[in-house]
Amino acid sequence: MNHFINIQDIADLNHWLEKGRELAETPDCCKNLGSGKTLCLLFFNSSLRTRLSTQKAARLLGLEVMVMNFGAEGWNLEMEDGTRMDGGAAEHIREAAGVVGKYADLIGVRAFAGLEDVQKDRAEKILNGFQKYAGVPLLNLESATAHPLQALADALTIASNKKESHPRVVLSWAPHPRALPQAVPNSFVRMMRRMPVELVITHPEGYELDAFQVGEYQPVHDQASALAGADFVYVKNWSSFKQYGKVLSEDPAWMMTGEKLAGAHFMHCLPVRRNVVVEDAVLDGDRSLVLEQASNRTIAAQLALLHMLEAL
Ligand code: CP
Repeated sequence: MNHFINIQDIADLNHWLEKGRELAETPDCCKNLGSGKTLCLLFFNSSLRTRLSTQKAARLLGLEVMVMNFGAEGWNLEMEDGTRMDGGAAEHIREAAGVVGKYADLIGVRAFAGLEDVQKDRAEKILNGFQKYAGVPLLNLESATAHPLQALADALTIASNKKESHPRVVLSWAPHPRALPQAVPNSFVRMMRRMPVELVITHPEGYELDAFQVGEYQPVHDQASALAGADFVYVKNWSSFKQYGKVLSEDPAWMMTGEKLAGAHFMHCLPVRRNVVVEDAVLDGDRSLVLEQASNRTIAAQLALLHMLEAL
């Protein structure tokens, strides 16, 4: 059974990027592959891009799609085994996942980090519960620690815009008023480690990413020196991992500006807060790749669904 849970589920990245180029030119080239099959997308959290691009990708492959806002409309799920369910949870994940697996041939799940208990988030109980009990291939639509569909779209975007054989790619932390998860930077760093790029990671002290997720790295705390000579600048906020889920800084000096970007391409996964994370001029300028990244989310989802369908 082929799941798409993390970047490691991509065995041959070059092959996936090549197939992505083919899908960009002929989006409906595999339109019969999913015929007669159903994909069920379960959202425990909000989404615009993931929800729409994955549905579009599924339809391009001939799949039927069902979507449910599980977080708002589903029963509260019990994740622990052996508990007496006399509290707020009406259904155990064993039955919930098993039931969805009877209605769908493929399942996608979005379930963010709670950002209160690192061990709980690392355990990925919702994602792993569906993987364990649904009995069908599972697609990660962003979990507590990973957003592989976004990273794949980012890889497609860099591959199609690069002018150098080994471009300098800078991941730059940005301020944000709310505590955000580390899933996007985790997957972006993992993906960049598999690409022919020079990766530089810049953030204030205290914002080191989880080495268990991204491996050891040497952060650059001086944003200006990190940005020097950048070809691509990927801007993203995340909350502290060391002081788990805390906002340690909202320093506006870390916001991306046109002056700092210089001649580099600007990237962000979206949604983005204008004039907090990045100034208007950058988003509205001709170096911004954010809409191309969003467009490539459809191709990324097609690639992941093809991978899952192949082994059915
Ligand atoms: N980038 C991304 O995953 O967007 P949504 O949260 O809107 O799906």
